[in-house]
Amino acid sequence: MSRTRGILIAGNWKMNHGAKATREFAQSVSSAWSSKLSDSTRKKIDSKSLQALVFPPHLSLTPALEAFAGSAVAVGAQNVHWEEKGAFTGEISGSMLAEIGVKWTLVGHSERRQYFGETDQTVKKRSESHLKQGFQVVLCIGETRAEREGGKTEKVIETQLAQGLPDAWSDRLIIAYEPVWAIGTGLTATPEQAEEAHQISRREIAKKYGPEAAAKTLILYGGSVTPENAAGLLAQPNVDGGLVGGASLKPESFLALLEAGGKALEA
Ligand code: PGA
Repeated sequence: MSRTRGILIAGNWKMNHGAKATREFAQSVSSAWSSKLSDSTRKKIDSKSLQALVFPPHLSLTPALEAFAGSAVAVGAQNVHWEEKGAFTGEISGSMLAEIGVKWTLVGHSERRQYFGETDQTVKKRSESHLKQGFQVVLCIGETRAEREGGKTEKVIETQLAQGLPDAWSDRLIIAYEPVWAIGTGLTATPEQAEEAHQISRREIAKKYGPEAAAKTLILYGGSVTPENAAGLLAQPNVDGGLVGGASLKPESFLALLEAGGKALEA
């Protein structure tokens, strides 16, 4: 089933890679494209069953769009306001990003929730607004360690989706399940833990939008994904890709993750 949905490998660069490092990254990825990716993986990328995406910091978006122009690597923004314009000091709107060619946004990352006051309510405002504006939206959910240890994982996923999902489904909506305890810690969820959480997520998506929409929705796993553990995670039927922080910062490991995506599509 998951294979009919394709696979998305998304790099969340967080506050890493300024303009210069971004250009260098793109250059290395382009020059190693044919040597580091197998023919079959490149074909999957060409046919769009395998998608590659990076979320650079705002100031690196233009350099990234320029450097990746004509390539298969898409570029998205890590944080975008829900309003079009106005008195929101420090914020950036979707129309500003659309103007430079950004087509993807990231919403509800746990670091935005933890450090910058993002809530399920603002997640919903952003996801609604970004989808209306035509973006592809990656909406993040996931429980903390205390919540997992307290047996609350299912409840947290249910609540975050019930409150954060936009009212109307779109095929441009993508979910990323990212257990907070696995982010940047080197502690990856086991493939079984990821699959279980993704099944719960898909069930909740089905509750809101119906089974057909749920079957089409990509659900990514995030939290210490590496080229080494990607195969096991991507082998799960409900894991449709990865949202990757640390391991997406180096061209070689980003390409290795794409190769793992290509292999998973063959299995
Ligand atoms: P990580 O980050 O891969 O470094 O754990 C993932 C994320 O926060 O999206």
